[in-house]
Amino acid sequence: MPRVPDPLLTKHETEEALAFIADEALRFLATLDTDRVRHDGADEAAESFSGPLPEDGDGALEALATLVHQGMDAAIRSPGPRFFHWVMGGGTPAALGADWLTAVLDQNAASWASSPLAARLESIAIAWLKDLFRLPTTWGGVLTTGATMANFVGLAAARQWWGERHGVDVAAQGFAGLPPVPVLTGGYVHPSDTKTLAMLGIGRDSARAFSRDAVGRIDTEAVEDALRALHGAPSIVIASAGEVNAGDFDPIDELADLAERYGGWLHVDGAFGLFARAVESARDLARGVERAHSVIADGHKWLNVPYDSGFAFVRDTSLLAKVFTLTAAYLPAPDDPHSVFMNLSPESSRRARALPIWATLRAYGRRGHQTMIERHLALAKHLAARVDATDDLERLADVKLNIVCFRVHPRGLDDAARLDELNRRIGESVLRDGRVYFGTTSYGGRVAFRPAIVNWRTTERDVDLIVDVTRELAARELART
Ligand SMILES: Cc1ncc(COP(=O)(O)O)c(C=O)c1O
Repeated sequence: MPRVPDPLLTKHETEEALAFIADEALRFLATLDTDRVRHDGADEAAESFSGPLPEDGDGALEALATLVHQGMDAAIRSPGPRFFHWVMGGGTPAALGADWLTAVLDQNAASWASSPLAARLESIAIAWLKDLFRLPTTWGGVLTTGATMANFVGLAAARQWWGERHGVDVAAQGFAGLPPVPVLTGGYVHPSDTKTLAMLGIGRDSARAFSRDAVGRIDTEAVEDALRALHGAPSIVIASAGEVNAGDFDPIDELADLAERYGGWLHVDGAFGLFARAVESARDLARGVERAHSVIADGHKWLNVPYDSGFAFVRDTSLLAKVFTLTAAYLPAPDDPHSVFMNLSPESSRRARALPIWATLRAYGRRGHQTMIERHLALAKHLAARVDATDDLERLADVKLNIVCFRVHPRGLDDAARLDELNRRIGESVLRDGRVYFGTTSYGGRVAFRPAIVNWRTTERDVDLIVDVTRELAARELART
């Protein structure tokens, strides 16, 4: 007789299912510090999930066992200390525990009515984060799925402001009859900002990036010329606090001056760079952020909260309400005394992302997070020193924050195309090898590595492996040619 595992009839499996997953989770975490970031057979393991929708289910325990047994090798150990690809953090013990609880409690963080716990903790998380980032207490904020959606929120507020300057409520009436939105930025602008412009109907191509060199440093004089040419028409300026190749910053204070002088909205993408403001030694890099109109960062990067987690802060929250409020007789009234977060963000039903954020801030406090950030800054300097001390490695940029941009450059090999090809091949073998994990980028037209240090577990031993593995794989590539 076929099994029909109606969840109601198999409710008793809940306890055993959670215990099984807890065991497997502990097994995963026990080896996370030293495990290969990518397992051999990862592709095959991922491919092994195939087949049609089953007519009759296996039941929770069997399904979870299949998920674990087929899936673990396909999972990248990105929460571990040797993952340096992109800019991705892990989950602190407090954040991970709270994230599990978030799934169990399954709260809808739409409003106080749907969850007083989620709504209250979101207000507190926003206030604590503003404190950590030294943002004005009067600003509002909201949690999002990540930096892309946080950029969406900040730039949605900018779009509304811009429309109002033209006498139009864009959220209500759209863009009909309005001129294109002038968006000015530098070469560091992250593609998620321009993706957001596409989503907002402003248009990806509206952004004009003014760079003064091949790596993308912003040309503020050209930005000023462009602003002047607008003759007082409102504009949006996007600044980068932490770009992905070398962790550099736009001069935000200067851009705030320009925005103020020419009547622009200043949006700052600080997906990871905003964390510089939490520590004395790096704070100056992001000077002027407090003068912006919207600022964003990610929780799943340097706060080390599990996916997905981002935050948007805006000077004038009423603009968000104009864009995102949904009204219906059964929903919270506009005069609800509590913050109705679904009316400040793109999602309506929302995961209670505040729980892990609150938990990690409560568990480690300002000082714990400062210690972690300072450790990462020191590790980046340590890595740079090791690169500098190695004949066949070449550092391509100053280390401003937590990213070290370098390449393999053997003595006597100076042909640009061959160097690029060599580094590209080494980058591919680093990812295949899996002992450490970081890919390549193009920095000033040169193929380069850009490991980013953001994980709370990372130590000097892990960072040293970057140099050791790169050199070993470089030697192998060179021997092959
Ligand atoms: C500067 C910057 N902005 C935005 C993003 C997009 O973040 P998310 O993937 O969380 O949407 C990233 C991701 O690396 C980033 O580094």
